[in-house]
Amino acid sequence: MRVRVVFLALCAGLMSLSCSLDNRVEVKSPNGELKYELYVNDQGRLSYELSLGQAKLINESKLGLEAAQSRLSIENVKIVDKKIIEVDEVWNAVWGQNKRIKNNYNQLVLDLITSKGLQFQLQVKVYDDGVGFRYKIPEQTGIDSIFITDEKTEFNLTQNGTAWSIPANFDSYEMLYQTTKIDEVKGANTPVTFKTNDGVYLSIHEANLTDYAGMTLQNTGGTNFEANLVPWPDGVKVKAKGSLLTPWRTITISKNAVGLVESNLIQNLNEPCVLENTDWIEPMKYIGIWWGMHLGVETWTMGPKHGARTENMKAYIDFAADHNVQAVLAEGWNTGWENWGKARAFDQQTPYADFDFDEVVRYANAKGVELIGHHETGGDYIYYEECMDKAFSMLRDNGIRVLKTGYAGPIPNGHYHHGQKMVQHYRKVVEKAAKYNLMIDAHEPIKATGISRTYPNMMTREGARGMEWNGWSEGNPPEHYVILPFTRCLGGPIDYTPGIFDILYKNRKEYTKWNSNDKGNSRVNTTLAKQLALWVCLYSPLQMASDMVSNYKDQPAFEFFELLPADFDESKVLLAEIGDVYSVARRKDKNWYIGTITDENRRSVELDLSFLEDGKKYMASIFEDGDNANLENNPTDINIRKVEVDSKTVLSVKMIESGGQAVAIVPVVN
Ligand code: NOJ
Ligand code: CA
Repeated sequence: MRVRVVFLALCAGLMSLSCSLDNRVEVKSPNGELKYELYVNDQGRLSYELSLGQAKLINESKLGLEAAQSRLSIENVKIVDKKIIEVDEVWNAVWGQNKRIKNNYNQLVLDLITSKGLQFQLQVKVYDDGVGFRYKIPEQTGIDSIFITDEKTEFNLTQNGTAWSIPANFDSYEMLYQTTKIDEVKGANTPVTFKTNDGVYLSIHEANLTDYAGMTLQNTGGTNFEANLVPWPDGVKVKAKGSLLTPWRTITISKNAVGLVESNLIQNLNEPCVLENTDWIEPMKYIGIWWGMHLGVETWTMGPKHGARTENMKAYIDFAADHNVQAVLAEGWNTGWENWGKARAFDQQTPYADFDFDEVVRYANAKGVELIGHHETGGDYIYYEECMDKAFSMLRDNGIRVLKTGYAGPIPNGHYHHGQKMVQHYRKVVEKAAKYNLMIDAHEPIKATGISRTYPNMMTREGARGMEWNGWSEGNPPEHYVILPFTRCLGGPIDYTPGIFDILYKNRKEYTKWNSNDKGNSRVNTTLAKQLALWVCLYSPLQMASDMVSNYKDQPAFEFFELLPADFDESKVLLAEIGDVYSVARRKDKNWYIGTITDENRRSVELDLSFLEDGKKYMASIFEDGDNANLENNPTDINIRKVEVDSKTVLSVKMIESGGQAVAIVPVVN
């Protein structure tokens, strides 16, 4: 790591900064293009601005925190000291879309004091691809409890443009993205993505959300947004003892949509890995007893249609063993589903009578297949925290390394899923899981803010309108998939669970409607080829093929999942137009995998394969929309072909409405 002290001194007497020393500081990105300016105006108000080259992106935007005890509020401030250093390092990820991550930024640490004597810091890191800034109230005499009642951080965009957002919500991220003008966004969950009229792409989010309330954005007029934190039941937003460190407020910036996706800003703004041994952490592909319940042909509860029966589980294990799938999930394996909605409903240690846990463990072991544990909590985090140690021990003692968690239901006592209490809980689960060598896949999670860098056992999470919605609602529209990579996925991996092959539910028999969103018109609004491509496009280190195995039997298209690795060394975005089209290539060793998808429009695109090694011959297995494919009534028609390619090849991709193409490329060995 290279750390260069650019400027270190008490501000008094130093005149090397461009503006008046007392109230204005600027930090530029390493390439000099991005400029973050901080200043205190005559009223003592701390603000920032942001520009890219000559263009201002963010106009005067307030900074500050409001506390219940007014002497702890961050207002009426004065700059005391400042320090700027440059850091240029590379770190290796345990897993990910890229193994080597460049972390190069200029950091400003600004010491300030309020008129009431509160000392605090503003820390800023300016990268070539964006900025992060956060507040720190260090320990100081006279401060015990801190109750933050409001965060004043603003993001005052200079320009209107296009926004891709989901509404601000304190309990859920499972909404469809709306494409609107920026000034039409009333409120938003983050990450939220903007494209200004000048064509600059910005994503506002947060990094390292560890012990604070989740941030939503509220429009305060025009294109100005203010942080709106998720409250405790008593209205306070954040409670801290002695000191406070907020998450980073982040703005990822790029001149094209590719740059948003390829940015590592969020991970870079998290602490390095704290686990001494990460050998047990391993990306995997999985299948499981899951879709049958969402389709209404199986149940989580025990009864005539119970999904998680020993025999059914063995069939999944057999399929996994035969098809290069490392792991199998079973939902509804434990007692308590009949009490869903009540307190202390789920017993995470007692299997249903028709699920012979010991036999399933034995069978999976014998077949060399891993099991994925499942703990639905219904939102009852209190009871879960009581049981966690025992439930985690049971998994570890049976050699289970992966755990899917769920919080489908209200949080007790008026808390929200995204409030500080739950942020603390989700973090507690990850830390405890690490002690039991468990990898986590969280559903109804807190948003992804990059903590996987610190705790790489935090593998993946939902936090989006995922596949399940297709089972019991009108389904996610075609363009959902070409918005996710530029919005939700900028936070981190997504457990969307692609891979439904029976797209029109032709094999669904004796189904029982169970979800009130179900209007009887459910389906998956993509082609089969697009389902395959999503395994590449929607990155997850635990990647699921989500259909029932009966729908994979004798399906040549399943070969693509067999070929696909769960982990990659490098990724390159080949095409990116938000809401229209997306194509990404990922490398594992010498093999490449490409996923290309389109929205509701049919589209022909060309992919330049110049990323392949020069002079080498490769064989590409191509899975594409068939000649007779039709989104309405023949979405499963697929064409599978093999063709030799090299670094000079330009691959033509023809996609029908909501279609796609998936490609696996391996070197030809002579
Ligand atoms: C919602 C989760 O997203 C889904 O995957 C799971 O099957 C149900 N809750 C039940 O736990
Ligand atoms: Ca579109």
